[in-house]
Amino acid sequence: MTRINPEIIKKDFPIFNQDIHGRKLVYLDNGATTQKPLQVIEAMAGYNKIAHGNPHRGAHKLSVEATKAYNSSKETVRKFINAKSTEEIIFTRNTTESLNLIAYSYGREFINEGDEILLAISEHHSNILPWQRLAKERKAILKYMYLNAEGRIPLDEIKNKISEKTKLVSVGHMSNVLGTIHPVEEIIHHAHRVGAVVVVDGAQSAPHMKVDVQEMDADFFVFSGHKMLGPMGIGVLYGKKEILEKMSPFLLGGDMIEYVYEQEATFAPLPYRLEAGTQNVEGAVGIKAAMEYLEKIGLDKIEEHEKELTQYALDRMLSLPYIDIIGPKDLEMRGGLISFTIDGIHPHDIATILDSYGVAIRAGHHCTQPLMRFLDLHATSRISFYLYNTKDDVDQFIEGVKNVRKWFGYGS
Ligand SMILES: Cc1ncc(COP(=O)(O)O)c(C=O)c1O
Repeated sequence: MTRINPEIIKKDFPIFNQDIHGRKLVYLDNGATTQKPLQVIEAMAGYNKIAHGNPHRGAHKLSVEATKAYNSSKETVRKFINAKSTEEIIFTRNTTESLNLIAYSYGREFINEGDEILLAISEHHSNILPWQRLAKERKAILKYMYLNAEGRIPLDEIKNKISEKTKLVSVGHMSNVLGTIHPVEEIIHHAHRVGAVVVVDGAQSAPHMKVDVQEMDADFFVFSGHKMLGPMGIGVLYGKKEILEKMSPFLLGGDMIEYVYEQEATFAPLPYRLEAGTQNVEGAVGIKAAMEYLEKIGLDKIEEHEKELTQYALDRMLSLPYIDIIGPKDLEMRGGLISFTIDGIHPHDIATILDSYGVAIRAGHHCTQPLMRFLDLHATSRISFYLYNTKDDVDQFIEGVKNVRKWFGYGS
């Protein structure tokens, strides 16, 4: 397999043409959001320049063009995750909205008193709060799978926590803090044996590895466009058709109806019944262009590239005795993000000082307070890679870390 050349890829991303605080930008916050190539920026601009109209609503040329653009994006998304049909693809604003939609439309209908909802302790708040509310409303029980010292969900934990009472499991495919790739196939297998439905939060996985929802057999799979070179404000909810068909609409209004009478209404078929109101066509055009860009380069090559960078970064970080890696220290079942702490220095100070060297990283609780409490930490710093990052970026980050230590009066 030929390797990707991140230096060439970087040229597609106008953001890297600028200096940050007088230095070359080293962008290592891809877990939060990613940058956009010209291909995505221009696709959205092109749509706005010549094809913008309200989709599904009019007979005029621009409305037809907007409808075509929207539907063609759905087909691209379908292929990207290998869903059976575009009826199974619902556009939302982001992963958060997708998860809320499932909790509301599926959960309120099918979760009952005493039923168990199972999450991993590493979930992002977006994959906790909707289930907390649902559990309270339906008098269901919210349970967690806990992690071992390496940050992984042990097989025994999966087997022990999934029981006849489990009705829904919602699990992050890849942890946004630990980088661990959770064994979703194993979880799905055990959950399906007891008839439970499984939601996979793919916010951190779909942008970085090939996902095949049919092979995975997930009942729902959700992710965000802005973490995969696309724009903010467009997200995806995949659901198996037979499940989506049983769900009542999340939002009610225009575009999702069949007939409306004074006192009642009937709803449109999938996917429209779950997409009320004017949709984000510009976002749909953007996510399509982003997926096409990723596929042209190859998800397998991107994954390989990130693995190489992660190994390189882990080696360099592990050689510094004052850095503590939070999460697996090897490449097995882990993605391209690394959380860490530095003895005696607050993660926010690390991120702020690194910024003055042009290095953008994330610090904080990463919207995972239950995980932080479980790990007995308040916060971590995090670097996260994508296809445009280089070993040189890692070197600059390491130099920055050494400078952070100097700021605080530590030796190297
Ligand atoms: C694992 C995970 N789930 C959900 C989300 C929420 O994504 P969004 O803010 O795009 O809805 C994130 C964002 O960082 C995430 O990392």
